[in-house]
This record gives sequence, C-alpha cells and structure tokens, in this order.
Amino acid sequence: METTTQSVAKEASAMRLKDKIAIVTGSAQGIGRAIAELFAHEGAKVVMVDMDEALVQRSAGEISQNGASSVAGVRANVTSADDCENVVKSALEKYGKIDILINNAGITKDNLVMRMSEQEWDAVINVNLKGTFLFSKAVCRPMMRAHSGRIINIASVVGQEGNMGQANYAASKGGVIALTKSLAKEFSSRNILVNAICPGFINTRLTAVVSDEAKKRMTDRILLGRMGEPIDIARGALFLASEDASYITGQVLNVNGGMYL
Ligand SMILES: NC(=O)c1ccc[n+]([C@@H]2O[C@H](COP(=O)([O-])OP(=O)(O)OC[C@H]3O[C@@H](n4cnc5c(N)ncnc54)[C@H](O)[C@@H]3O)[C@@H](O)[C@H]2O)c1
Repeated sequence: METTTQSVAKEASAMRLKDKIAIVTGSAQGIGRAIAELFAHEGAKVVMVDMDEALVQRSAGEISQNGASSVAGVRANVTSADDCENVVKSALEKYGKIDILINNAGITKDNLVMRMSEQEWDAVINVNLKGTFLFSKAVCRPMMRAHSGRIINIASVVGQEGNMGQANYAASKGGVIALTKSLAKEFSSRNILVNAICPGFINTRLTAVVSDEAKKRMTDRILLGRMGEPIDIARGALFLASEDASYITGQVLNVNGGMYL
C-alpha cells in the first residue's frame, strides 16, 4: 500500500486551496496528517495542531521538505479553551484570516459499559466532542467577520451505528454529527459551511491495536473489501473544503467503503 506522501506526490495538484489558511487538529499522524499534507499540496497554508509537540513538528518538517507550501506544527490540547484561542490568535496574527478548520483530534478508551470508568467516559467526550465545540467556537468570530469559512468535523461510522465496547466513543461521535448540523444552522447566514465526515475502518495507529481476527471480521463487512487509508478521508475533506462543495452544508459524508449504508 502506498504512503500518503507517495499518493499525494503522484497526484497533479489543481491548487484547489490556493492561499487558503487551514487549521487541522490532531494532525501529527494518521488521518489529520494526511489532510494537512493533501491541503498543503493543494496550495493551502496549514497550521498543524497536536498535543504531541515533537511528532507534530517532525511531521510538519517532513511535509515542508516534500515541497508543500507553508506548513507549521503547533502544540495545543483541544480540550483547553485557552489553547484553542491561542492557536486561532496566532494564525490570525500571521495570516490575517482562517478559511478552513478541520476538527480531527480524537481518542478512544474502549470498555464495556459495565466496566467503563467515569474517567474513560469523560476523557473521550472531552477530546472528541468538547474539543470540536471549543475549536469551532474559537474560529467562528473571524469566520463570521469574513462572511466565509468551512468547518469539517471528523466523526465516525461508530457515531451512526454504535459499537459494543465503544459507548463513550459512539456517543461522542453521534454528538459531533448533531453539533455539525447545529453549527450549520447557526452559521449559514454568514456563509460558514459546516459538514462532517464519517470514516469507516481506516488504517492508522487508532486501529493498529485491533486483532487480526477482529480486522478480518470488520473487513468482511466492507463492500470494497479493504480497510481505508488516511488519504481516502483526506480526499473527502478536500472536496468539502473546496469550491466544489459551495452549496453543501449540514451534511454527513460517509467515507467507509460501503461498510455502513
Ligand atoms: N482510524 C479510524 O478507523 C477512524 C475511523 C473513524 C473515525 N476516526 C476519527 O478520525 C480522527 C483521526 O483518527 P486517527 O485514526 O488518525 O487517530 P491517530 O491516533 O492516528 O491520530 C490522532 C491524533 O490526535 C492527537 N490528539 C489526541 N488528543 C488530542 C488533544 N486533546 N488535543 C490535540 N491533539 C490530540 C493525537 O496526538 C494524534 O496525533 C479521530 O477523530 C478519529 O476518531 C478514525
């Protein structure tokens, strides 16, 4: 299987995001990194946000070395309102605007409900749902002033159909879908378009822990017969961030290979 960098390098850039300013949370690795890399290749200036400072700096450096336009790595925790506001403030100081926010940072802490601790519940809701709220809130004023903006929230197929052992994660992602629709309604008059992507089963660190047997069970359910790659989700995000999606808001884009219809 090709790496994201190889896929991106092979694709002719149409510069669909030329001079756009994008913030991508949780982008040190996995889906977020693929989105940052593809957006940079398409001409965007990308602020890569992650809690893992060393990794986000390294990833930003690698993407820049591959000839992309301006990419910067920043440490921030999406559960902290101050961190979210500081990222937005410095992006505005540097670039004067924010066009695109990708709320991608997410975690799992799986357990059956009868064994799930309050801490496991709270941690997942805080990062996945509250973090999406806090960053959306932090960007909404500058986007409203500009009468323009795109917010794309990375939810999950699990938020649509639920999953055993993932009640906290399913509830957080179901919440992200409902939050997406509410933000779309609140922000539409200022031309801020808000959509969600529901990835299916994607090959990242998050799913690396799944046993081979469980992977086979999941893959058997996918009509296209394979796990997705981070670049598959990045292409969906590029579409929603581009001019091609200028009449689409409040929607959920399923990028799941036919895992859930
Ligand atoms: N991999 C999948 O199969 C899959 C499926 C559906 C949805 N998703 C969603 O896609 C998103 C990305 O997942 P991934 O598989 O790339 O995961 P990943 O673990 O590879 O990457 C997630 C990144 O988020 C960062 N992060 C975690 N908590 C953070 C916080 N509080 N503040 C800032 N950064 C934080 C991590 O450091 C990490 O770099 C998540 O929201 C996840 O729920 C993934």
